[in-house]
Amino acid sequence: MSEPKVPADPCTIVIFGASGDLTARKLVPALHSLSCEGLLHPDTDISGLALTDLSDGALRDRLYEGVMAYSRHKPGGEEICARWPRFAKRVTYLRGRFEDGETYAALARHLAAPGRAARTRGNVLFYLATPPQLFPVIAGQLGRSGLNRGNGWRRVVVEKPFGTDLESARRLNDDLYAVFTEGQIFRIDHYLGKETVQNILTLRFANAVFEPLWNRNFVDHMQILVAEDAGVGTRGAYYDRAGVVRDMVQNHLLQLLTLMTMEPPSAYSARALRDEKVKVLQAVRCPRIEDCVTGQYRGYRNEADVARRSRTPTFVALKLYIDNWRWQGVPVYLRTGKRLARRASEIYLQFKAVPHLLFPENCDLSPNHITICIAPDEGVHLGFETKVPGTSMRSAPAVMVFRYSERFGESVVPDAYERLLVDAVQGDALLFARRDEIEWAWTILDPLIAALESPAARPPALYRAGSWGPDAACALLERQGAAWHYSCGRG
Ligand code: BG6
Repeated sequence: MSEPKVPADPCTIVIFGASGDLTARKLVPALHSLSCEGLLHPDTDISGLALTDLSDGALRDRLYEGVMAYSRHKPGGEEICARWPRFAKRVTYLRGRFEDGETYAALARHLAAPGRAARTRGNVLFYLATPPQLFPVIAGQLGRSGLNRGNGWRRVVVEKPFGTDLESARRLNDDLYAVFTEGQIFRIDHYLGKETVQNILTLRFANAVFEPLWNRNFVDHMQILVAEDAGVGTRGAYYDRAGVVRDMVQNHLLQLLTLMTMEPPSAYSARALRDEKVKVLQAVRCPRIEDCVTGQYRGYRNEADVARRSRTPTFVALKLYIDNWRWQGVPVYLRTGKRLARRASEIYLQFKAVPHLLFPENCDLSPNHITICIAPDEGVHLGFETKVPGTSMRSAPAVMVFRYSERFGESVVPDAYERLLVDAVQGDALLFARRDEIEWAWTILDPLIAALESPAARPPALYRAGSWGPDAACALLERQGAAWHYSCGRG
């Protein structure tokens, strides 16, 4: 990654849920890469907490496997990072039940141990990588044991899902506020840590050519696609209760929408940026059930921990509008699902047709478009018409393609968790969701979720795994004379 904005403070990173998947696949590989690149203070400690019976050594062995499989810097790999032994020495394990006061008393003793307290200056980042029902429990215990305050700074990172509706999100925010201030709370949405997602801001606000076109006068419609080829895997129990709208739309897709549609912030600061995001969320009209198509992939009901007669949608396509001066009347289409034809996340902005057809040979000009490829094949595509060589004025669509890999080299794009962890350690909340953002996102979607889950609602249409979802999703755009677009990663 790039140079640190400011040198990171030393601290102890306490991971609740240290024996889980997220820790092994994402958190520790990211911390290891950061340490290899000198972006973590060398005196950073990592303390894992969980119920599983593990020794420090056994935890380190587990984490080593995760680092070998998922870290950009593999110990002893091609990009040799000799730091693993030193990094591993800083990893310790504490066993305990998250509900028990004794766990926190032991954690307090651990954090206050003379060597550690001096090295880390008492700074602690608590990372809640546990099932969500434990978030309030852990926050409450941190408050009761006084671990929410100390000599150094204290911060808490909260993983998703952040509530299951507006009411539960408010409750969770209140529970956190009982112990921490907003400035101490870092609500993670890993999409905001993605390099290509941050590039939306650069594309819009570091270039003069795009922003003048970024409004209802020039944009015909927008599509946001997050397609996954994988199914629910081992997360059936959680997913079957959540469904695609809570799992993907309330957080990742709405975050992409806000970055694409917000007004330019007055400064690149957490406050200014999040103020603009909230303003645009406040202008989003709640999507109607008639503008929404849900689907479920065939075979979903046979996945582990999924109800045999489940009506949980694994796919959704929907249309919404933003009621403000910039976007009035411009439809925004969101589409996301599991077990689709391929893994692809992209945002497509289609521009309006030319007002007058000058060349008689062309009656079906392709619309201009900008496509932001979030993954795979990260980059930006600009689609335009060009003259076909020859004696006529016939034209054909062409695409100018920018690829990160070609411009900056392979494996330069850091994992989202790298960026977010370093920001949390530095106390920069710009890429984290504020309380009001989360609550507005639920306000937008609660009525739709209630309609979809009402007993009278039509069940999701079944679709073939490996397809692009139910056919009805196409009709949503056809009504407007448009079609779903997909181009990134097509080779
Ligand atoms: C998570 C969802 O937040 O994002 C998962 O819970 C989903 O269901 C994942 O698979 C997608 O993230 P990415 O970065 O792989 O697009």
